[in-house]
Amino acid sequence: MQAWDIAFKALHAGYDDYTVLRNINANLPTGKISVILGGSGCGKSTLLRQIIGLSRPLSGAVMIGGKDIFALSHAEFRKMRRQMGVLFQDGALLGALTLAQNVALPLSEHLKLSKALLRKAALRVLRMVGLENFADFYPNQLSGGMRKRAGLARAIITEPRILLCDEPTSGLDPITAARMDALLRSMHTHYQDMTLVVVSHDLASLRAIAQHVLIIKDGSTIFAGTPKAMEASTNPYLQHFLRRETDERNTDTHTPIDANIRASLDKWLES
Ligand SMILES: Nc1ncnc2c1ncn2[C@@H]1O[C@H](COP(=O)(O)OP(=O)(O)OP(=O)(O)O)[C@@H](O)[C@H]1O
Ligand SMILES: [Mg+2]
Repeated sequence: MQAWDIAFKALHAGYDDYTVLRNINANLPTGKISVILGGSGCGKSTLLRQIIGLSRPLSGAVMIGGKDIFALSHAEFRKMRRQMGVLFQDGALLGALTLAQNVALPLSEHLKLSKALLRKAALRVLRMVGLENFADFYPNQLSGGMRKRAGLARAIITEPRILLCDEPTSGLDPITAARMDALLRSMHTHYQDMTLVVVSHDLASLRAIAQHVLIIKDGSTIFAGTPKAMEASTNPYLQHFLRRETDERNTDTHTPIDANIRASLDKWLES
């Protein structure tokens, strides 16, 4: 069986001359749930874009199953890309299509299947994410959590070997977030050897699902290993992160309002 592990080799990535990620060396093992954790803006989505080949590394490489994805021919790359499902950070559903049509897109775009078969396939995955009764709803008729679940259904409809989820729990209340975690776990149990990569800044979610952890800070990896090793780590940055502290001490940005403005404001408020 082909291995679908993902490896970053001295990866530098960013936009034009703006380097976001510096010298990332890490491995996301086949068949495991890996969580990439880091603060907002540290480059998590940028790293995900590298895995799906949306942009070329500034230097270094992304290897999938031991192959440098940018050394593949177009045909080979497309073949590999077909084995990846992506849940984008914003769900990326098309507003003009119903949920069933949205979810069936990865199939309807590439395969010649009857409407009935496409609908059957869509309903199957919508059932997996608990949205079978919303098949004919449009995205704007759904809550944020529902849209994320629909995005997940669309990502798995092709039964990919690699499933990439960008912030599946962000913007969800803790209970809905916990349900999403449970859904990802059950998905992973259902698709035994699927390599699942979840990008998150949600520590609770990491603790609920991770089998492997990659932590990014200031564009570099500060930890890679098991959740157990992460909790036991004595790295001070990591300790801060795990205790949800920030390195930036809360410098006082509260300058008092201008006295003249205050006086005018008071006058107006009392008028
Ligand atoms: N298309 C782009 N062009 C130029 N810079 C970008 C682009 N997309 C992201 N960036 C920059 O790259 C950096 C990392 O962004 P990225 O979206 O990867 O962060 P993130 O870790 O996913 O953040 P969040 O947790 O908020 O989603 C940011 O400084 C951002 O401004
Ligand atoms: Mg992001």
